[in-house]
Amino acid sequence: MANRILVVDSEQAVREIIVSMLTSAGYVCREAGNGVEALALLDSGGQFELVLSSLLMPELDGIGFLERVKDKYPDTPFVIVSAVHDVSVALDAIRNGAYDYLLKPFERNQLLNTVGRALENRRLKVENRNYQKNLESLVEARTSQLQMAKANLEVVKGKPQTAIADPERSYGILEGAKGKLQTAIADPERSYGITVEALGELLGYKDPETLAHTKRVTAYTMAIANRMRIPKQLIEMIGRGAFLHDIGKVAIPDNILNQPGKLTPEQVAVMREHCYLGYKLVLKIPVLREFAEIVYSHHEHFDGSGYPLGLKGEEIPLGARIIAVANALDSITSDLPYRPARSFAAARGEIQNWSGRQFDPEIVQVFLEIPDTVWPDIARDIRSQVEQER
Ligand SMILES: [Fe+2]
Ligand SMILES: [Fe+2]
Repeated sequence: MANRILVVDSEQAVREIIVSMLTSAGYVCREAGNGVEALALLDSGGQFELVLSSLLMPELDGIGFLERVKDKYPDTPFVIVSAVHDVSVALDAIRNGAYDYLLKPFERNQLLNTVGRALENRRLKVENRNYQKNLESLVEARTSQLQMAKANLEVVKGKPQTAIADPERSYGILEGAKGKLQTAIADPERSYGITVEALGELLGYKDPETLAHTKRVTAYTMAIANRMRIPKQLIEMIGRGAFLHDIGKVAIPDNILNQPGKLTPEQVAVMREHCYLGYKLVLKIPVLREFAEIVYSHHEHFDGSGYPLGLKGEEIPLGARIIAVANALDSITSDLPYRPARSFAAARGEIQNWSGRQFDPEIVQVFLEIPDTVWPDIARDIRSQVEQER
């Protein structure tokens, strides 16, 4: 379905130019002459994927309108169209939550690029949030399933005594118990959502920062995987693998995990064990077996120079190759005990630089096509989520 854009400007001629550029590129547009009219359109149920608004308008100006949109429709990106003389106001608007601004007069290409980036940013944010929500409702559903199963088992446990005490009724009771037991053990494969979450939490008790890292890597991995032509089920599987990729760190001594300086070669060797330890742990839980290979190979390099096995190219599972990029992105942009965080732009350059060596070039290509603003947005969302949970 075509994306719908709300174009807000007090000058009809300007609106017409913008609308004709957007319509010729396949967008569906509605127009409003000021913030009040535009809000009325939004409030009456008009669905828009993007708002494009100028600043100087009668009744409700662009800044006031932006405030209301951010408040009531936080998922709708807001792009300011501004004249050269109010650049500082446009920059203020960005600080207040506008996605970007366009300076009048602009070329068709500039308009379409900005609109394209804003829509892509929105799509990724919504997808990421839906993924998190799905995971949460999956965990809720599995938790109640498990509670039911537990309650049924309690009933089953009580039955044999009754059966023995009253042999006449024993057959009926045992038949009933069999049914309950079947319900209790039904579909254990599907309880993996809960297991993945629980294991992740376990890592959080030991080291909250590693859990936060894991959450960011999961979101980055999903953002990349969603851009690739791979089946939805596989994407979900890869996301869960990302959530567990560092689970082996539960077995790494705290003094090595949190050491403030560089690690000695012996300590590096212990740290590297987290791949194998995680693999062994995940392999022991039947429902998680499918993630084991990903956990084992997330530090392999595309050119064969990684560890633990020195796998090369497509010998490395696809999920592990995506996680490797997401993991590097998060490591470079996080404060580590021995060095401060670097910018997302620096991480982008670094990952591009190692394409074909540490990373799969096709995955790097997909990563580079994703707008730069997506990553700090995701990191910010996860930071506030982690802070709320504390
Ligand atoms: Fe790792
Ligand atoms: Fe990691």
